[in-house]
Amino acid sequence: MKAIMPSGWGRQTRLVLTDVDEPAAPGPEDVLVAVHAASVNPKDRKLNLNVARWTPPVVTKRFPPVFGDDLAGIVIEKGANVEDFDVGDAVYGMDMRPRTATLAERTRIHQTRIARMPPSLSFEEAAAMPLAAQTALQGLRQGHAGFGRSVLIIGASGGVGTFAVQIANAMGAHVTGVCSHRNTDFVKALGADAVIDYTAGDYRTRAGPFDLVFDVTSYESPTSCAALTGRSGYFISTGGDARSMVGTPFYRLLGKKAGTVVVESYREDLETLFAMVESGQLKPVIDSTFELIDANGAYDRNGTGRCRGKVVIRGDGEADDTSFRRSR
Ligand SMILES: NC(=O)c1ccc[n+]([C@@H]2O[C@H](COP(=O)([O-])OP(=O)(O)OC[C@H]3O[C@@H](n4cnc5c(N)ncnc54)[C@H](OP(=O)(O)O)[C@@H]3O)[C@@H](O)[C@H]2O)c1
Repeated sequence: MKAIMPSGWGRQTRLVLTDVDEPAAPGPEDVLVAVHAASVNPKDRKLNLNVARWTPPVVTKRFPPVFGDDLAGIVIEKGANVEDFDVGDAVYGMDMRPRTATLAERTRIHQTRIARMPPSLSFEEAAAMPLAAQTALQGLRQGHAGFGRSVLIIGASGGVGTFAVQIANAMGAHVTGVCSHRNTDFVKALGADAVIDYTAGDYRTRAGPFDLVFDVTSYESPTSCAALTGRSGYFISTGGDARSMVGTPFYRLLGKKAGTVVVESYREDLETLFAMVESGQLKPVIDSTFELIDANGAYDRNGTGRCRGKVVIRGDGEADDTSFRRSR
């Protein structure tokens, strides 16, 4: 089958559509999915691409690096213990474990990491959701977002942020989104009650306090947002920034409410998101769509850090596999 693999080493590494072995037969708890769409997350560049870049070819040849976590597609085979899915079901989900590489025609995934795909969504829209929307849901829950609570979302216009604004809204929170000037109307249209333009000056000492500050840019830390959280607000981050990683445990030792969300895919959470989509509370925002053969373009676009919503990769690319096409 066709899958995305790195070519070259170091800074010249590019992603190429290559013939690779079929995935191993699904284990008892796995399904084999014909991938109709996948999506790109900053982690794909920060981690997967960089690991591939700096791993000697002799190693990557033996242990091929894996690209893509999110998927939407059709179940084409299932393990002996899989009862909740059947061949032909449209599913969506994600897994960051190496055996699941979604930038491929087919991939194996554990049955607990997927759920049925919301029927009102296209494969591209569904593939935009699993990692980013579960990050938003899990981060908001960690910060006790809920009815009547004030929530500040820093990075409201990006992959995670567009979901966070809509989910916090669905939870009944009073939502303030932080974004640049060009995105203020867009973030309001997503359902934010108020918007702060971060390009208009340092808002961090002028706004709040909020019950929850959810930093989905990973640029902020508990200390940089201390005025925004006030005495009793939560600070939750998607991590990444060294100050946040060092500062969060220290801050907690002082009795403050701070945490980092580390996303994991759970069937229950995907079902919660399914319900939000089908009740009209949640709609994925697609920044741009690329063919599988142009995975470099998708990674480059995501790498600008300026995306409005998610970058999606259509699963068929130039792959010419009849069983894959039949399953559509
Ligand atoms: N820990 C986890 O489990 C987890 C899970 C998912 C993501 N993450 C991390 O979370 C971060 C965000 O992920 P993502 O997918 O949302 O990224 P993304 O889609 O690339 O974010 C792009 C958005 O960030 C906005 N932005 C850039 N600088 C900003 C600033 N100073 N203030 C407010 N908004 C700003 C941009 O808007 P403008 O163009 O208007 O500036 C753009 O809309 C990444 O670092 C990622 O690695 C962690």
